[in-house]
Amino acid sequence: MSFTVPMGQPGLQHDPQWYRRAIFYEVMVRSFADSDGDGVGDFQGLISKLDYLEWLGVDALWLPPFYASPLLDGGYDVQDYRSVLPEYGTLDDFRELVTQAHQRNMRIVIDLVVNHTSDQHEWFEKSRTDPHGPYGDYYVWSDTDDLWTDIRIIFNDTEDSNWAFDAERRQFYFHRFFSHQPDLNYGNPAVHDEIFDVARFWLDLGVDGFRLDAVPYLYESDEGLGESEPETHDFIASLRAMIDKEYPGKVLIAEANQQPQEVAEYFGSEEAPECHMAFHFPVMPRLFYALRSQLVAPLIETLNETKDVPGAASWAVFLRNHDELTLEMVTDEERQALYGWYAYDPRMRINDGIRRRLATLLDNSRHEMELAYALLMALPGSPFLYYGDEIGMGDNIWLQDRDASRTPMQWTPDRNAGFSTADPGKLYLPVIQSLGYHYSSINVETALAQSRSFLHFVRQLLHVRRSHPVLGVGGYDTCLTDNQSVLAFVRTLGADQCRPGETPETVLCVFSFAHHPTTVTVSIPESVRGKHLRDIFGGSVFPDISGKNTVTLTLGTQGFYWLAVE
Ligand code: GLC
Repeated sequence: MSFTVPMGQPGLQHDPQWYRRAIFYEVMVRSFADSDGDGVGDFQGLISKLDYLEWLGVDALWLPPFYASPLLDGGYDVQDYRSVLPEYGTLDDFRELVTQAHQRNMRIVIDLVVNHTSDQHEWFEKSRTDPHGPYGDYYVWSDTDDLWTDIRIIFNDTEDSNWAFDAERRQFYFHRFFSHQPDLNYGNPAVHDEIFDVARFWLDLGVDGFRLDAVPYLYESDEGLGESEPETHDFIASLRAMIDKEYPGKVLIAEANQQPQEVAEYFGSEEAPECHMAFHFPVMPRLFYALRSQLVAPLIETLNETKDVPGAASWAVFLRNHDELTLEMVTDEERQALYGWYAYDPRMRINDGIRRRLATLLDNSRHEMELAYALLMALPGSPFLYYGDEIGMGDNIWLQDRDASRTPMQWTPDRNAGFSTADPGKLYLPVIQSLGYHYSSINVETALAQSRSFLHFVRQLLHVRRSHPVLGVGGYDTCLTDNQSVLAFVRTLGADQCRPGETPETVLCVFSFAHHPTTVTVSIPESVRGKHLRDIFGGSVFPDISGKNTVTLTLGTQGFYWLAVE
């Protein structure tokens, strides 16, 4: 397979707000491509696939942890923040990845696991064995496990307490996730310095930013519930200040799975900015809800609630990632409905969520996959794709935990789906062989050969979006409609937001969640009256709308329009 990419600007283009127009792609080093045949993906493998990612239209990669780790939580159990897992390669391989990505004007964002370490981290070893030594206070120790019993348990399928007893120190330590992941003690300024230095280490190696893993949980207090405590925000603001001063142009992305208003707080304020981006956890499950309920009201409500973000901040919108589709923040009723639609087999559930990929969640419905992606690309913020979803990869719910959707990328119909030349039994996880999703038909090579494949659709979507900056940075306003299954909004790019070479633009986006063809009358806001609507994809001009304040449209099953207002 070779990917020809039109000659672009060589090297990284200077743009302090690059993240606002970027399309991100989450890729686990372990899962993408194995260059040395040991059954595990590695940096060299990923480097060999950068041409593919560039061809697809990806601007930035997000790499989950690749640090030294016992891998009891996919690498989120960090044993050493400054070394890479040998099976992925060396630090030099990582440097090469950064260089090669940058040559393609592609950024690299990595995970900064701030809340906890592995219990095999040297700091924890020293903390448990030498309570009065320099690391004694690096973790949250207590003589009793009766403290903060109101703090919810996140991994409630595996853990029954946020405390675990350490037989060596003869005290309990606090952990929000697995018991082998002790929480760092942010009450200790030395921990701040350590994390700052870890950030500097990777920024010096050229990374373009961090996803701040599990960031709401840094502080606990007697008054709060251990989430989004004021001191947590103070810490993030101080990290941001350091980065702005020492490494301007690098970004922080919050993984804060909270209620809408609380997530927005991770952007900070104009005076004390925190993260440049925050994952849009509130909107994601509501989108899946709309797909099956055919009702868009909860989606609209959430979008309206999260409309205003300060300054140059931006949402990170996503459909799926390496974790379960989390349902922690929806209502009980919504959760039950979502389980009924998407996780009818108990094996599909984990904690308060669903461990499936996009294609399997949507029962391989091309209509739904196209609708979901088109909406993702048009929502305010920058889209994050999850590796493999662009070819409609399946999952394996017989695997443990979230490994269900972390299986090897499927490149070809050959052995191990072209991921690795290893003995198939040696792969870190088996490739997908289930009915309907077998790698012999679901793979990049086959998708490339079919001009109407989902992969080609996704690529087109990415490229169309790229040529309409309004979808990245434009304003957002919901439009009223007379159809409860149709979501309509306008995105507007004013002259003041345009870069040289860009022109102001308004796009009316209309999405039908109805399971049959439907018609809708959309109110066009006063500010965006125009003469024509022109379909961005094919260029068709729709009937004249001049002087009208509504437009009536007909949509096919789960159809959508991106219409330029001219
Ligand atoms: C984040 C990660 C998840 C991990 C957890 C604990 O939520 O996305 O994969 O298990 O943090 O580190």
